[in-house]
Amino acid sequence: MNQHERVETSGAAGDADMPVATATVTDRVWDRLLAARKDRTVGAHSDWTPAERAAWALYAPLLGRNDQPLVFAQIGQSLDGRVATIDGDAADVSGMEGLKHLHRCRALADCVIVGANTAIQDNPRLTVRLVRGDNPVRVVIDPRGRLQDSAAMLEGERCLVVQAGDRDRPVGVDTLKVASSAEGLDAVSIIAGLIERGFRRIMIEGGGITIGHFMDADLVDRLHVGIAPLIIGAGPPGLTTSPISLLAQARRPRARVYGLASDIIIDCDFRL
Ligand SMILES: NC(=O)c1ccc[n+]([C@@H]2O[C@H](COP(=O)([O-])OP(=O)(O)OC[C@H]3O[C@@H](n4cnc5c(N)ncnc54)[C@H](OP(=O)(O)O)[C@@H]3O)[C@@H](O)[C@H]2O)c1
Repeated sequence: MNQHERVETSGAAGDADMPVATATVTDRVWDRLLAARKDRTVGAHSDWTPAERAAWALYAPLLGRNDQPLVFAQIGQSLDGRVATIDGDAADVSGMEGLKHLHRCRALADCVIVGANTAIQDNPRLTVRLVRGDNPVRVVIDPRGRLQDSAAMLEGERCLVVQAGDRDRPVGVDTLKVASSAEGLDAVSIIAGLIERGFRRIMIEGGGITIGHFMDADLVDRLHVGIAPLIIGAGPPGLTTSPISLLAQARRPRARVYGLASDIIIDCDFRL
């Protein structure tokens, strides 16, 4: 580390009194985030602009601390909290910077989880094609074996299906069998199984039902909610957690807001 570098992986933004920090991910910021992914002693540069420092503050916490596992979720939604139309059109909810944000999150993760509905309705590839970086291992939670073997995310290398039974999957696809109850597959066992396989940065991409399972089990350390300026009217919600009766019971994480050109990102820390 030279004199211009400082380690700043805690997420404390340089301009803490700013209500919204404009974040700009320049090549030099992204290069250092990719380097910090492999070597946690790599930090931000002191001569960066405020917008570059804000970008570091937004993404560096996703790298975790030491060797501790970190579970983070991201969802990109409309002003009215939807992630798709009632007919399942979900392609352009986020703006271009919101989409790049999603791909950056994937590139910083070891594995990325989606639920069966997302895998079936969107047929995603879960790659990082909009940014430089390595594709994460793709994980789908498909308890009832609904996902077809021809699904895009099961093609190519490194994918894993979390399931309740012994359904055979295509050659090369790993499986993780998890006990099922009335509440679904045990979220704690899913995370424990992924950690056992060596994953440390575990990203939950959605949809809302899947993120909700992990949030209800208090397994999500960090949540990025991206909001794009469009109104959909009806459709699946961004987050689906257990209902509460009183606002006093609502979870209120420490949050910071970042502006990413086309979208805003609310970065919620559930461990502070
Ligand atoms: N904008 C974004 O950032 C974003 C990201 C991802 C997805 N999406 C959108 O979200 C929509 C789908 O979301 P969704 O909330 O309806 O569904 P989802 O979360 O994609 O999938 C839910 C399904 O996954 C399985 N599942 C997940 N966790 C489970 C657990 N712990 N135990 C048991 N089963 C579990 C269940 O499958 P079974 O029903 O088979 O039991 C469950 O019904 C799509 O429109 C997609 O486009 C948007």
